[in-house]
Amino acid sequence: MPASACRPNSSSRKQQDASTEIEANFALEENRLYIIDYHDKILPFLNQVNCFDDRKAYATRTIFFLTPIGTLKPIVIELSLPPVDPNSPSKQVLTSPVDATTTWMWQLAKAHVCSNDCGVHQLVHHWLRTHACMEPFIISAHRQLSVMHPIYKLLHPHMRYTLKINALARQYLINAEGIIENDFTTGKHSMLISSAAYKDWWRFDLEGLPEDLIRRGLATRDPTQPHGLRLFIEDYPYANDGLLIWSAIEELVRTYVNYYYQDPSMVCSDSELQAWYYESINRGHEDLKNASWWPRLYSPEDLSSTLTTLIWLASAQHAALNYGQYPYGGHIPIRPPLMRKLVPKEDDPEYAKFVADPEQYFLSALPSRFQSTRFMAVIDILSTHSIDEEYLGERKDLSTWSGDSEILEAFYRFSMEMKRIEKEIEKRNVDPNLRNRHGAGTTAKKKKKRSASL
Ligand SMILES: [Fe+2]
Repeated sequence: MPASACRPNSSSRKQQDASTEIEANFALEENRLYIIDYHDKILPFLNQVNCFDDRKAYATRTIFFLTPIGTLKPIVIELSLPPVDPNSPSKQVLTSPVDATTTWMWQLAKAHVCSNDCGVHQLVHHWLRTHACMEPFIISAHRQLSVMHPIYKLLHPHMRYTLKINALARQYLINAEGIIENDFTTGKHSMLISSAAYKDWWRFDLEGLPEDLIRRGLATRDPTQPHGLRLFIEDYPYANDGLLIWSAIEELVRTYVNYYYQDPSMVCSDSELQAWYYESINRGHEDLKNASWWPRLYSPEDLSSTLTTLIWLASAQHAALNYGQYPYGGHIPIRPPLMRKLVPKEDDPEYAKFVADPEQYFLSALPSRFQSTRFMAVIDILSTHSIDEEYLGERKDLSTWSGDSEILEAFYRFSMEMKRIEKEIEKRNVDPNLRNRHGAGTTAKKKKKRSASL
């Protein structure tokens, strides 16, 4: 809406409201408004969290506008607290800043949003989706599939270390008084957020990349587009690059499954395979075993789809959620794992301190130096690749398929495709038109990284 120098009278205010509504409708119709909504995931835990002196949080919602250059700009932040008194509002709504005071309020509000994001990222997207929910499939594979079984052999490199890492996480990260409880806003209630997301939100059938993008309102099915999807944000690196990898995995898995299972009866009569899938759901995911959304396992197509999702989760999805943690979150003021102060309102005793020295107030709202240092160390370790990491397309031992030339050829094709995808992503990353992945500083950082690895 254009700025006006005049104080609006009631009729011009009505005109402004109408104009704002028209612009909002236009933005909605053009798919230019997006939301990151942590309200329902965080709000139920806020009373317990905010009773601690050194933990303060909101349940946040942030609305973004998709700008003409394809970047997302935050325009509204809603900060919610559980209602305590019907006469006192439990929500604050902040819009883009207009002066020095609102600029610092906006910074504080953004830090609270990022704190929500940091917690949900770690507890739901990283831990729950790619570690905890994978565990039943891996345990069951070891219990029910022979090491000679073709599906065991296909999954094997994607099951390495997950159980060991999960055990270490239970010992040092998510345990009582562990790193997560100490360093995240949600403190000792952190695992409740994981559990609630598992109970009310997680669905295996929506864990594949295309379904995930559709579920989040970022894509729609369109058979005329590559991968059968039309993205609403044209330059969305996670989706654009991820879909290349998803499709390559899908093609490899389809070829592999069709080679060993030529018709549905072969899938249904494979007792080891059926026992693996049955146990994964009925023992491993027992709380959700009666959910109607579990994919069936009656045909080669069903098997390909489930395996593609599992391999995607263990490889590219986990990489996207894990290895960028330090580069994205290592600078605490940008993405604090916890906040120690709320955004002050004008009638708060803290407000005068905030106005007198907003920078100091902002810094005092962030984690302490000790909390920050420990968190940085942890995510630096988490972001590090193992020295014997196996990358997609780089299978170390193909001799197990030495008699199956079709399978060997499929792996070689996959390997070549992964190299092609790598080159394509590198090309995209230096395209100055793709503003969500390329800009000031990004090239210098890459050069520095390369020389460090030399
Ligand atoms: Fe991980």
